[in-house]
Amino acid sequence: MMLRCVLPCAVLLVAPAVAGQAGQAEDNKLAPYYPTPKLVVERMLKLGELKPGETMFDLGSGDGRIVIMAAKKFGAYAVGVEIDKDLVEASRRRVKKLGLEGKVKIIHGDILQQDYSSADLVTIYLLPTSNEKVRPLLEKQLKKGARVVCHDFDMSGWAPDQVEHIEDDGEGRSHTLYLYRR
Ligand SMILES: C[S@@+](CC[C@H](N)C(=O)[O-])C[C@H]1O[C@@H](n2cnc3c(N)ncnc32)[C@H](O)[C@@H]1O
Repeated sequence: MMLRCVLPCAVLLVAPAVAGQAGQAEDNKLAPYYPTPKLVVERMLKLGELKPGETMFDLGSGDGRIVIMAAKKFGAYAVGVEIDKDLVEASRRRVKKLGLEGKVKIIHGDILQQDYSSADLVTIYLLPTSNEKVRPLLEKQLKKGARVVCHDFDMSGWAPDQVEHIEDDGEGRSHTLYLYRR
């Protein structure tokens, strides 16, 4: 049987631990770390029509898998924004090891405090309430024609240009991707 929406389950598991941690970083946490399977990463970037030379942002970049594939396989300039210090350090190490320093930048900061006006594509794997917080920022900053791809949770209030279902990510889980154009 296919499983769906693994992120909410992760929230239930992680929430008590998060609630017990002090610090501003955790106060601003919009979602726990839950990586997108590689097969789904590629489908997100294809759906987002990412082209060589374009600039993309991943909001909450985790271990850097989306920005790394965006640079390595799609030839984009890729920027990850991540609040978790350990994930920032790990992803920067990977970027360096792969020799992608000129093509990938990892910002250690809050998604809600960045400038996305240079983005051709934005990828998002956050929670529905987080998407609601991000939406006004993107509406204000994104240039005309920029694309947004949301994984599993849509951007409520926006009409998707395309919706793609992935029945099996190779581990028996299904996923839904939403493409938006500004
Ligand atoms: C569900 S994971 C997605 C990771 C990656 N984008 C992927 O799809 O594999 C969400 C990520 O967002 C990060 N995050 C949560 N709130 C954040 C915030 N306010 N600013 C920056 N990163 C944040 C988490 O630390 C986590 O790595």
